[in-house]
Amino acid sequence: MSARESLAQRLTKARARTLRLVEFDDAELHRQYDPLMSPLVWDLAHIGWQEELWLLRANDARRPGMLSPDVERLYDAFKNPRASRVELPLMPPTDARAYCATVRDKALDDLDSLSDDDTEAAFNFGLVISHENQHDETMLQALNLRSGPSLLDRGSPLPPGRPGVAGTSVLVPGGTFVLGVDAVTEPESLDNERSAHEVDVPAFRIGRVPVTNGEWRNFIDDGGYREARWWSPRGWSYREKAGLTAPQFWNDCELAGTRTRFGHIEDIPDDEPVQHITYFEAEAYAAWAGARLPTEIEWEKACAWDPDAAARRRFPWGATEPTPALVNLGGGALRPAPVGAYPAGASAYGVEQMLGDVWEWTSSPLRPWPGFKPMLYDLYSQPFFDGDYKVLRGGSWAVAEDILRPSFRNWDHPIRRQIFSGVRLAWDV
Ligand SMILES: [Fe+2]
Repeated sequence: MSARESLAQRLTKARARTLRLVEFDDAELHRQYDPLMSPLVWDLAHIGWQEELWLLRANDARRPGMLSPDVERLYDAFKNPRASRVELPLMPPTDARAYCATVRDKALDDLDSLSDDDTEAAFNFGLVISHENQHDETMLQALNLRSGPSLLDRGSPLPPGRPGVAGTSVLVPGGTFVLGVDAVTEPESLDNERSAHEVDVPAFRIGRVPVTNGEWRNFIDDGGYREARWWSPRGWSYREKAGLTAPQFWNDCELAGTRTRFGHIEDIPDDEPVQHITYFEAEAYAAWAGARLPTEIEWEKACAWDPDAAARRRFPWGATEPTPALVNLGGGALRPAPVGAYPAGASAYGVEQMLGDVWEWTSSPLRPWPGFKPMLYDLYSQPFFDGDYKVLRGGSWAVAEDILRPSFRNWDHPIRRQIFSGVRLAWDV
């Protein structure tokens, strides 16, 4: 398959996924499930607007577009905070779908006539694929916050876990490794993943798998949410203010022990990675467990470095593309896989489930790597470098398999937990 055909196929796959997430009536699509989230119809038209701007208008909003200036400004994420979007005179879903389809037809025409050595244009198409899929994950966060009977089923089957892996760790010996990537090895890598550069990392241990619901329940039962000593001062004051007593979506955790997931009430599986925790909870859990959070640099070394080859692997397990036998990605499962489900997906150090399942909080604030240069989407990373954000790594079950890399960096405020966030522990040695 040519590079052009592959991009076309990935664009089409992303669009099919988006359209499945808006297969609801107009009233539903205009609802705001939570002030943290946009109405689904906003995400839909915003996906089309960014695609038009990046691919058809050379990222120059002064060039005429298909929407009137008054309408297109509604879909600028930086001009319209999420909480306010429900109040905007948004395009009806039929118009939004038609607009997205028209933009896509033109983009596919442009792709057809793209020359094979136009790496810049290919990057822009990759960015559009990544952006659309990232919004699909955001829409899943919104649907998970929706109250009432579920609009989605319980998700596709997952492989079984392995007993005995929860709570175990592996040693990552000290030494240098190559952090980050560049355009040659990872042409679709985003600005904040570049450039590749050598760093020295002291030895550490890291959890073989993410922390599970069963382990988290021990933390709760041991009074973890009641004792300030496990929490940072900031974390404790937020815990008190927000009244946190368990991960989000856990019901009556002291009694019945059920959770609500996409509107389904179900038992909480002990062997599944815990989800929907803030950074502050992750930090407190780690302190209670006699551990700490990994830095994002440690995380990336444990995920991508092959010490025998003295080189990075493309994926933790090697060079082959992600498959359902290796990793839980793509969004179909609607939940993380039990720990130990993917022994074949282990990294060179034997660390499992680093990609997929849950975004893992690290102790690192978002900062640029040396030599950072903003990309076409110049507001993607740069405005956030000095903000109150912690980096999350590894992608969740909701991330598309074709946009994720070990170098991929996500970030959010330490109080956020509607995201598919979990935690993996680390220890000094
Ligand atoms: Fe966006």
